[in-house]
Amino acid sequence: MLQGKHIVLGICGGIAAYKTVSLLRLLTKAGAEVQVVMTPAAKEFITPVTLSSLSRKPVVSEFFTANTGEWHSHVDLGLWADLMVIAPATASTIAKMAHGVADNMLVTTYLSAKEHVIIAPAMDLDMYRHPTTQRNLAILAGDGVGIVEATSGQLASGLEGKGRMAEPEDIFEHIRDYFDCGGCLSGRKVLITAGPTYEKLDPVRFIGNYSSGKMGFSLAEELASRGADVTLITGPVSLQCHNAAIRRVDVESANEMYDAVRNVFPSCDIAIFAAAVADYRPKNYVEAKIKREKMEEAVIELVRNPDIAAECGKIKREGQITVGFALETDNGLASAKKKLAAKNLDFVVLNTLQDKGAGFRTDTNRITIVRDTEELTFPLKDKRQVAADIADAIEASITHDLN
Ligand code: CTP
Repeated sequence: MLQGKHIVLGICGGIAAYKTVSLLRLLTKAGAEVQVVMTPAAKEFITPVTLSSLSRKPVVSEFFTANTGEWHSHVDLGLWADLMVIAPATASTIAKMAHGVADNMLVTTYLSAKEHVIIAPAMDLDMYRHPTTQRNLAILAGDGVGIVEATSGQLASGLEGKGRMAEPEDIFEHIRDYFDCGGCLSGRKVLITAGPTYEKLDPVRFIGNYSSGKMGFSLAEELASRGADVTLITGPVSLQCHNAAIRRVDVESANEMYDAVRNVFPSCDIAIFAAAVADYRPKNYVEAKIKREKMEEAVIELVRNPDIAAECGKIKREGQITVGFALETDNGLASAKKKLAAKNLDFVVLNTLQDKGAGFRTDTNRITIVRDTEELTFPLKDKRQVAADIADAIEASITHDLN
């Protein structure tokens, strides 16, 4: 499966290092040629002899081998690698990677790596959720590093929480997916709509909704980290983009969003409609602030907004992939299937407000990806991880079309 692939496997000093032995075994069994690079602290947790026996190559840890005076070139390693994987990635190494502190062989090799890098963080829960670590992970995500999220469970400290390194099989799956797809999102033009729309009533009031934009922004970061050229058309949100490959277009109303989408849709390869677009807008915009005095009752007359996803569905080209969202309260699957057909979409990502932790204003989501032939249901996950699942589904569909 990985025959002929060159992988640099970086190992940091954390208890999860013992699991990396299984990952190394999976990689070599699949035919990959693996060069292990350890931080000095990693050697306290696992012996280089175990790793060199399995990889059939001496482990590299220092810039020089003391007794022979041999120099290990991080530049050559960076050029040799088709992929660099760092597992476990500790808080300290993540911080050094984010800020370019090249004080050991592993981080120096990271800075020299020309190809994709995947990390599997592992640390205690307080370190993991610390704003510094989260900020550093966001920087790395923005730099295009693939992150195999830590999982929740019992930690070495005895505490329970998020911070366990993903299982070797899951990390291996990410690696295989990366090579299977051959970086197939690289260079693809992706359009994403995100956030709510605001429909103005007067200079101080609008009709809006609770969408935070987090799902659309997570998708933008995820796809950009896989090499896509992303245009993110967003309604009013308080979020920032991290990846320089994301072109952000800010809009306010559904009509403005529609105009921006019309400019980009014809030339895009993939469009994801994650915005919560208001279906109606006030018929009349009142130039001066509406006064309360004279009104006993107020009635707002509404007119329909364009259905952006459906309009794009009408002009969709052969080979273009379009993905919609359906946030439902009841009859979710039936509604999702209806939207799939009515808007000429390839997938609908269904989430129901009845699921705790799903939908608006949360950091997590629980989705079902609905296609005309099948449905794939996922557990409750962090929105970035949900974005990775959606990106995997898109990649799978491209790979399928290519074969
Ligand atoms: N959508 C859109 N433009 C609209 C309304 C919806 O592009 N005016 C897109 C959304 O971004 C989403 C999908 O269509 O991807 C479904 O949105 P949703 O609001 O669930 O569907 P509606 O068609 O508005 O149906 P309803 O509100 O009746 O469930």
